[in-house]
Amino acid sequence: MSSSTERVLVVGSGGREHAIVDGLIRTHPTLEVFVYPGNPGMWQLAQRIRPEDNSIGALVRASVEKGIGLVVVGPEAYLDQGIVDAFTAAGIPCFGPTKAAARLETSKSWAKQVMRLAGVPTAEYREFSDPGEIRSYISSLGRRVAVKADGLAAGKGVLVTDNPVEAAEFAELYLSSPGSKVIVEEALSGKELSLFALVNGDMVVPFSHAQDYKPAYDGDKGPNTGGMGAICPADSPSALTEELTEEIITPIARQMKTMGVPFCGVIFAGLMLTEDGPYVLEFNARFGDPEAQVMIPRLDADLYELIQCIVSGQELSTPLAFKRLFACGVTIASEGYPVSRAEPEPITIGNLPEGTYLYHAGTSIDNNGKLIATGGRVFTAVGLGHNLDDARDKAYSLASRVSFKGAWYRRDIGSNWIDLAWRRRAESNR
Ligand code: AMP
Ligand code: GLY
Repeated sequence: MSSSTERVLVVGSGGREHAIVDGLIRTHPTLEVFVYPGNPGMWQLAQRIRPEDNSIGALVRASVEKGIGLVVVGPEAYLDQGIVDAFTAAGIPCFGPTKAAARLETSKSWAKQVMRLAGVPTAEYREFSDPGEIRSYISSLGRRVAVKADGLAAGKGVLVTDNPVEAAEFAELYLSSPGSKVIVEEALSGKELSLFALVNGDMVVPFSHAQDYKPAYDGDKGPNTGGMGAICPADSPSALTEELTEEIITPIARQMKTMGVPFCGVIFAGLMLTEDGPYVLEFNARFGDPEAQVMIPRLDADLYELIQCIVSGQELSTPLAFKRLFACGVTIASEGYPVSRAEPEPITIGNLPEGTYLYHAGTSIDNNGKLIATGGRVFTAVGLGHNLDDARDKAYSLASRVSFKGAWYRRDIGSNWIDLAWRRRAESNR
């Protein structure tokens, strides 16, 4: 499979896609990697594809001209636009689900149906299209619930509350367009875990698990974000990854194949580890951000070969291997995130300490060729270490060398790792 003419396109412009590009090149150095649209960090490693406009059709045409042989799609928004269907129709294999299969992420209502058919544990729920009905339902329930927009909402479409008025107001934000729905489900409690498997039809390869820190501020306070940091333990993938994949992801992959909607790409289960076992909060149809930034630097196998095997439905040619190192990733955000957008600010970056990776997201190059922060999540600072403290120290040492006006980050990423005794407790409770 190796030749110097293998050309891969990575689609997206976040820290996750920067980590994917970095991982592809690190583990398969002869690869020619192209990016669209990319970010300044990715442009240092890979060539840019510049289609005539920003439609998917133009991107496909430009990719055919460049002789791209494989496409890896990062963000869910492109999946929802049918990017995989368009590349496949042009004869270019894609690592990612079709628009129909991406409904596992893009429609929470559809995902709930698949989970019910597959017998995968998830919270009891009801669908609503009228905020008034939500108010009376929650008043009668008298319990905490999670109110969820049915479609994509960049990690911000969920409110957990026991206040019927607040729930109805939140639901109203997502019920303005005709046919829109919200889901109200029972609130679960426990620790959250992100679980990843590589999938093609009913072929399921457990990849890794990681822990995301979603709330904006220290101590899990403040509004939910796309993710303020993540950790990946040195023993992942472990028996825990395998057991959870078998219990949660394999039945979903089989069910989707049976329904005539086979999935190709990454199935990411957002789990709540409750005292009664794992429950699915949501599925995503792609790698997590910032979870990819802590999983991919640990990878000790050829990422390109791995993706090629999955896309072509072949047995893995090399075993999936990871370095036995902990990884900790800290999101460096701009002022106001996730509530408001900051003005562009110039960035200075000191030397990168050994064992660290700086992945770009909200960065750009200004008219004078200088690196600027453009708002939102700007970087993920990642440290790899022999234990969690070592990995954290490296990540924070790197974060302290990045400066721009208004830059901030959580100080407590990696201060708690999920108590794995949870599994034993849950099993004895069943
Ligand atoms: P989701 O987009 O469905 O993963 O939800 C985003 C976040 O909302 C999750 O990471 C949880 O913190 C929270 N959440 C979602 N569903 C529930 C639930 N049923 N019970 C408690 N918290 C939830
Ligand atoms: N970090 C969660 C996500 O990527 O959806």
